[in-house]
Amino acid sequence: MEDEESRVEGLSAERGILRYCVTGATGYIGSWLVKSLLQRGYTVHTTVRDPAKTMNLLPLWGGGDRLRVFRADLREEGSFDEAVKGCSGVFHVAASMEFDVPAKEDSDSYARENFIDPAIDGTLNLLKSCSKTASVKRVVFTSSISTLTAKDRDGQWRSIVDESCQTPIDHVWKTKAGAWVYVLSKLLTEETAFKFANENGIDLVSVITTTVTGPFLTPTVPSSVRVLLSPITGDPKFSSILSAVNSRMGSIALVHIEDICSAHIFLMEHARAEGRYICSSHNYLMSELVDRLDKEYRSSNKPSCRLVEEDHGSAPSEISSKKLKDLGFNFKYGVDDIIHQTVKSCVDCGFLSPIVN
Ligand SMILES: NC(=O)c1ccc[n+]([C@@H]2O[C@H](COP(=O)([O-])OP(=O)(O)OC[C@H]3O[C@@H](n4cnc5c(N)ncnc54)[C@H](OP(=O)(O)O)[C@@H]3O)[C@@H](O)[C@H]2O)c1
Repeated sequence: MEDEESRVEGLSAERGILRYCVTGATGYIGSWLVKSLLQRGYTVHTTVRDPAKTMNLLPLWGGGDRLRVFRADLREEGSFDEAVKGCSGVFHVAASMEFDVPAKEDSDSYARENFIDPAIDGTLNLLKSCSKTASVKRVVFTSSISTLTAKDRDGQWRSIVDESCQTPIDHVWKTKAGAWVYVLSKLLTEETAFKFANENGIDLVSVITTTVTGPFLTPTVPSSVRVLLSPITGDPKFSSILSAVNSRMGSIALVHIEDICSAHIFLMEHARAEGRYICSSHNYLMSELVDRLDKEYRSSNKPSCRLVEEDHGSAPSEISSKKLKDLGFNFKYGVDDIIHQTVKSCVDCGFLSPIVN
């Protein structure tokens, strides 16, 4: 027992010397990642646009003098210089979460000027700060499942979706299907980030993140949790995002917040990590997901879940985390935990009405 305690203490002391920077620390994933790193004993530099937004996060993070908060904005060149100094790795989690643009005649140029170009420039700003800092050995970029599609060139469902199944950029511009601005921002930002990293000797690894749910530290319910719960809440904005994911993937892939943060840390530290990694615990057909949510929340006597749309009626494509698992990553949470903890957290914070048995 004593041996185990001194081993853990020794590990924490070693990690305390290791310093990581996390961008977007006021967001859902960023705030949980900061907590996970501090709990594991690392020293953390977090960046936030508005330090006042950390007031209720600071007591939840803990970490004492192993935590430093920096003000930084992706839209300001050089903004991340101080925050990344002395860090051995940077988790680039921050991103604007705009999903659509107002209907306009010139929607392409509007989207480019207001959302896509700023997203690309913001990530380049961060990478430029990293390339000026010799201590930074790796950058882990939070990518999205929206960069992938389960449909092949002929519009047929693939049996397996892996990291190569990229959504064609020209198809997104042409079809402007739901959440198209977000899809393009993530696709083009990631593409530019890898190009810049290759040209400037930065070791960049990306985590293709599926819909993240479970508990949360943020004072408001995160967007991805609202998306998952939209069959219960009927919120049209988030239902339409769920529908957009479903039409591109033929199913909804989920991952627990703790697993996505562990995957980020695992990929930061694994010597052989390279390129892109899908991180998905499980994917549900839309009808299965609605059914599962209904079972979890049925005792509330609230209206049943609404089926957002028909699914394609067969077994869904497998959204494969094989590359990540082959490297040695293990998921801790199954789908039952994910759905149960998400509903419970939302009942506890008052977002969903209490369950009446
Ligand atoms: N959650 C998911 O299911 C999911 C799935 C796939 C991919 N992702 C990716 O994961 C990342 C985080 O997502 P999330 O769910 O945690 O979103 P979130 O809760 O909305 O957090 C976004 C974070 O980015 C920050 N941010 C936005 N614009 C910024 C700017 N110009 N400069 C600096 N920081 C800025 C926000 O800061 P403020 O608080 O100041 O606004 C916030 O901290 C994003 O890259 C997203 O694309 C998430």
